[in-house]
Amino acid sequence: MALRHLSVKALLFFGLCQVGRRGFASAPEVREAPKKIAIIGGGIGGTAAAFFLRQEFGPAVKIEVFEAGTVGGRLATENIGGYEYETGGSVIHPLNLHMKHFLDRLGQYPLPSQDFLMMFFSKMQNRILSGLSPRADVSSKLAIFDGKELTFEESDWFIVNVIRMLWRYGLNFIRMHIWVEAILDKFMRIYQYQQYGYSFSSVEKLLHAMGGDGFLTLVNQTLEEAMLAEGFSQVFLNDVVTPVTRVNYGQSVRINGFVGAIALAGADSGLWAVDGGNKMVCSGLLYHSKAELVPARVTAISMKMRPSKTGSAANFYEVNYVGESGAAHSTYDIVVVATPLHQGMSDINFSGFSPPIPTHFSGRYHQTVATLVHGLLNVSYLGTTEKPENFFVSAVLTLDKKASEIHSLSSLNPVKIPKGYSRSPASQRKVWKIFSSQPLSQKNLQQIFLSWDSVFEKRWLAYPSYSPPHRRTPPFILHDRLYYLNAVEWAASAMEMSAISARNLCGSTRKKEEFSFAVWPDGGGK
Ligand SMILES: Cc1cc2nc3c(=O)[nH]c(=O)nc-3n(C[C@H](O)[C@H](O)[C@H](O)COP(=O)(O)OP(=O)(O)OC[C@H]3O[C@@H](n4cnc5c(N)ncnc54)[C@H](O)[C@@H]3O)c2cc1C
Ligand SMILES: *[C@@H]1O[C@H](CO)[C@@H](O)[C@H](O)[C@H]1NC(C)=O
Ligand SMILES: *[C@@H]1O[C@H](CO)[C@@H](O)[C@H](O)[C@H]1NC(C)=O
Ligand SMILES: *[C@@H]1O[C@H](CO)[C@@H](O)[C@H](O)[C@H]1NC(C)=O
Repeated sequence: MALRHLSVKALLFFGLCQVGRRGFASAPEVREAPKKIAIIGGGIGGTAAAFFLRQEFGPAVKIEVFEAGTVGGRLATENIGGYEYETGGSVIHPLNLHMKHFLDRLGQYPLPSQDFLMMFFSKMQNRILSGLSPRADVSSKLAIFDGKELTFEESDWFIVNVIRMLWRYGLNFIRMHIWVEAILDKFMRIYQYQQYGYSFSSVEKLLHAMGGDGFLTLVNQTLEEAMLAEGFSQVFLNDVVTPVTRVNYGQSVRINGFVGAIALAGADSGLWAVDGGNKMVCSGLLYHSKAELVPARVTAISMKMRPSKTGSAANFYEVNYVGESGAAHSTYDIVVVATPLHQGMSDINFSGFSPPIPTHFSGRYHQTVATLVHGLLNVSYLGTTEKPENFFVSAVLTLDKKASEIHSLSSLNPVKIPKGYSRSPASQRKVWKIFSSQPLSQKNLQQIFLSWDSVFEKRWLAYPSYSPPHRRTPPFILHDRLYYLNAVEWAASAMEMSAISARNLCGSTRKKEEFSFAVWPDGGGK
């Protein structure tokens, strides 16, 4: 694990100083080990939770993962012409250490094939693939489109790009890298905390531990406000930052500064994806954790009491669900909700809780439509006069203009790169992915493509619709031993954030004292 600027000694020292401070959930008595745990949602958050909880409680505890749809959730692929393509979460940052760790761990074990779900139940297949690894790299080329023409096209020459950027935006570009890097540096502290078993009862406390008051301010103001305050120019925000927030979060620079920084980090070099599809990590974690997959939709969670040996009453949870064979219910000591509790995403009734837990928290999720088209691009749509056979641009980002109803247009590589595969020009028929907030009409498609032979559309409720300043984020802890992972998405939604949230949960179940106050009073302290 990288120790970026943070010395273990310092952490231990401060850690010792903090021991004894009562955390949010520290109960004086030693709790009985849980016998049964329910996890609701088989996306990266839920499956990572299964993995960490197995590590935490050992082989005896029974872990059940409820999944109403497909394992992977917002990590999903679609088959087009015999190849699979990512339709949801696609890239992973090189410093996303949990995702890296999962790959390392899962890479060492034989894994079941992609039709894991089928295998899990029928056990008819026994096709075992080798472990997981990152996907091979294919070079890419970026351009920015204003709805009429390309305002920027990356050159194959690095130095040409640097000179153009300096010419147009002065030092803004370099300063942006430094700004994002400094935020990432603080972000990395979370791995140290987690390694030492610390966990946080709210998103705000987690953010505060990483970056002090600076991070709390960042998450409660827009990216635009944050960057203007840092001296970046409005032109730079409009021309360079906006296209990045549009492709990564389908929204403008009015998203919060923290998720904005994550979006900008998502334009770094060295991004990677999982060979065979990112969702393979989810099925891998599930398999590795020996959790049982329950293909059912959870409809309600209610709190029940049973008398305990010590005389005081202990609570447990009844989970109601509807599967193929109808409605049923089961009881658990710990329940982990690993799906957003928002309109249109999950409808879970909580009963018997005081104060009550809402079915939907306030705030909504933003719709991003992913349209995958196998066809021939009309390069004139991009206002370029380049010949299609010379047009190698693989990612077109867009400005926030009325004229561009699309958020991005990119040429997709399959999740498994075939031998001898390379970047091909626009004169060849290939798979393009368009992100937009509204579904594309037939007319839209006719403008963008000369011809096509297949269109696949997926309407995601993709990530929160961010509009700082914000009210309080939803809690991680809904009730004693009832946890909510997706609260973290209100700081930022990403695979790694769900994994961090899953790891955070384990400290909570252990009742270790929370590291809840500033370790570095200035939030800096390298
Ligand atoms: C188009 C798009 C692009 C993205 N790009 C990136 C990217 O490049 N990099 C990145 O890091 N992140 C990206 N993200 C974000 C990332 O995909 C998500 O943050 C992450 O996958 C969330 O995982 P999760 O497990 O927390 O939630 P989910 O993946 O949503 O998992 C929740 C699961 O719970 C299930 N469920 C819901 N309700 C119930 C119920 N009542 N009972 C049983 N099961 C239920 C759902 O079917 C779902 O499978 C992107 C997302 C989208 C949509
Ligand atoms: C949730 O509770 C409300 C009111 O108690 C009820 O009307 C609704 O049908 C319940 N929904 C589910 C999915 O159980
Ligand atoms: C390609 O796009 C240009 C510009 O939008 C348009 O004028 C032209 O008609 C399109 N070509 C075809 C064959 O649709
Ligand atoms: C966010 O800022 C608003 C005012 O801009 C303030 O009222 C609110 O308390 C802040 N929220 C948090 C969580 O700091």
